[in-house]
Amino acid sequence: MSADGVTLRFGEELILENISFQVREGDFVSIIGPSGCGKSTLLNVLAGFCRPQTGTVEMEGRKVDQPGTERGVVFQDLALFPWLNVIENVAFGLKMNRVDKRARHERARAMLHLVGLHGREAERIQNLSGGMRQRVALARTLVMEPAILLMDEPFSALDAQTRDDLQVELLKIREQLNTTVVLVTHSIDEAIYLSDSVLLMKTKPGRIEEVIDVDLGDIRQPSIRTSARFNEYKQYFMDHLKSSHQ
Ligand SMILES: Nc1ncnc2c1ncn2[C@@H]1O[C@H](COP(=O)(O)OP(=O)(O)OP(=O)(O)O)[C@@H](O)[C@H]1O
Ligand SMILES: [Mg+2]
Repeated sequence: MSADGVTLRFGEELILENISFQVREGDFVSIIGPSGCGKSTLLNVLAGFCRPQTGTVEMEGRKVDQPGTERGVVFQDLALFPWLNVIENVAFGLKMNRVDKRARHERARAMLHLVGLHGREAERIQNLSGGMRQRVALARTLVMEPAILLMDEPFSALDAQTRDDLQVELLKIREQLNTTVVLVTHSIDEAIYLSDSVLLMKTKPGRIEEVIDVDLGDIRQPSIRTSARFNEYKQYFMDHLKSSHQ
């Protein structure tokens, strides 16, 4: 996926200014920046929910101007269907695509297994913890086999331990499915731990300040989060985010 010269206004206000970047297939890219700098707006443009006035987004050689199944979206606000149980939620998109019940439940079950919810298929959404709901939302998106996963602060409502666990989980899933990921996050730790590269945004108008490659190897053990190298990155990001507020 790539963005080329994306500029977007809401009314008179310039929100995104001349944003260009590339996400290589299989890469994990995070977007980080101060609140209100336009991260969610940018993700909405990538998802095709929102069109820029100038510039283009391309995916697999085609211009993005509407939502598409090759781009799976997971937002913080999960919007799971409370009247459906776990497996019905995950299989919902397949049902809309007229995949027959046996096949869609088989695929949904495999995806639930992948996100660690094996055996919870028949549970009501209301009975699940926040972390489990987030897993259901992830499975629901992944079951459609998107080429790229667009996530907007998917873990921000979770407690620290659940969040850490889900980050590890997400890396495993991505390794198995070979999905490209673009993640918007407020967490510097999350961005460093998960990403191959991080887009650092500045605010008013939202623009890309810097693209930083995170060179921590392909296999990220959770223990990497306390390594000296990790902390060097962290310091760097903290300094730069501070200056982007000024
Ligand atoms: N639909 C809209 N109409 C008008 N202005 C909007 C709209 N959506 C967002 N904005 C404005 O665009 C700017 C960027 O908002 P956006 O939600 O993209 O920021 P963000 O970086 O995701 O912030 P946060 O980190 O708080 O989630 C803000 O100034 C916001 O007020
Ligand atoms: Mg946002």
